[in-house]
Amino acid sequence: VAAEKGGYEHFMLKEIHEQPRALRDTILGRLEEEKVVLQEVDLSSEQLSQMHKVYIVACGTAWHAGLVGKTLIERWAHLPVEVDIASEFRYRSPLIDEHTLVVVVSQSGETADTLAALREAKNRGARVIAITNVVGSTVSRDAHDVIYTWAGPEIAVASTKAYTTQLEGMVLLGLYLAQVKGTLPASKIGEIISDLKEIPAQVQEILDQESSIRQLAQSFVGVEDAFFLGRSLDWAVSMEGALKMKEISYIHAEAYAAGELKHGTLALVTEQTPVIALATQRDVFDKTVSNIKEVKARDAKVFGMTYKGNTSLAKSVDHVIYIPETRDELAPILTVIPLQLLAYYVSVARGCDVDKPRNLAKSVTVE
Ligand code: G6P
Repeated sequence: VAAEKGGYEHFMLKEIHEQPRALRDTILGRLEEEKVVLQEVDLSSEQLSQMHKVYIVACGTAWHAGLVGKTLIERWAHLPVEVDIASEFRYRSPLIDEHTLVVVVSQSGETADTLAALREAKNRGARVIAITNVVGSTVSRDAHDVIYTWAGPEIAVASTKAYTTQLEGMVLLGLYLAQVKGTLPASKIGEIISDLKEIPAQVQEILDQESSIRQLAQSFVGVEDAFFLGRSLDWAVSMEGALKMKEISYIHAEAYAAGELKHGTLALVTEQTPVIALATQRDVFDKTVSNIKEVKARDAKVFGMTYKGNTSLAKSVDHVIYIPETRDELAPILTVIPLQLLAYYVSVARGCDVDKPRNLAKSVTVE
């Protein structure tokens, strides 16, 4: 087993470090200068023009990837998207028919609720695209089209490289739909593609500063509760950051849309609750900073995250984690990396079983 961990103490840490490679593999052969090549998806512009709505359906971390996908597809392909938890979707009699595109996301391709949702969607006539990491998995066989993520086997229960490659899958799908529908000019697609190609090296850059996150983790060791805040795509990533923290360190962590905090949750914020505030999304940056000031006013210790070169956040928080600059739509692939490392080092410091957290399974084949 030690050999399988490739010199790392845990599978999770190994898998965190495999992300630059996994991210490179997932875009390999799928990007031309101004065009996304998704041979696996065979939707003509005629067929796509018949699609009026998209549902993204998944569980756990894959559902969090779907939340990012919603914004990308709506913004780029101008299609309305609903994101649903598979176990809810199934029993809701969702309004789907042959004019609906259903995207199921599953690392294992075997999650019982996701599979059942896929079948339900097919029975109702929807076109189903799967994003999955396991070649030949049940999800991959049952869907009409499959976009594989090339993360490689993920052993740790807490998902890391599967999530970031699922985010890439969402970027590829969002661009592909925009391309087929003609909602983005080729030049714009080209700009996004060139930024996407930078992402693996930028992830590596963050990993190279691992020791600073390790240090920061010490502030969380004795904590009972933590909050993760952000707006827009930062909110979606906050949910994944909070989930990582809960899963492996057993700290109660809650993600909140930064603007919604004052409608209830702010009552829970005290000097005992560290707050992680993601502030990358440029269109809502100032609003997010106002929300950060609200929690600072309650004496919370705030750890902010933003792009390198943004010097203004430092004035409103106790500590800033900087990530390399990219376009806002791609930021989730970067912002989640420090959050994965944070959860990992807090878990280690608290003496938890990092790779096999209590009560959880890697693949859930019961409903
Ligand atoms: C389990 C795992 C999670 C995962 C979820 C969905 O709960 O512990 O990490 O996100 O299942 O799994 P899937 O294989 O469908 O992505």
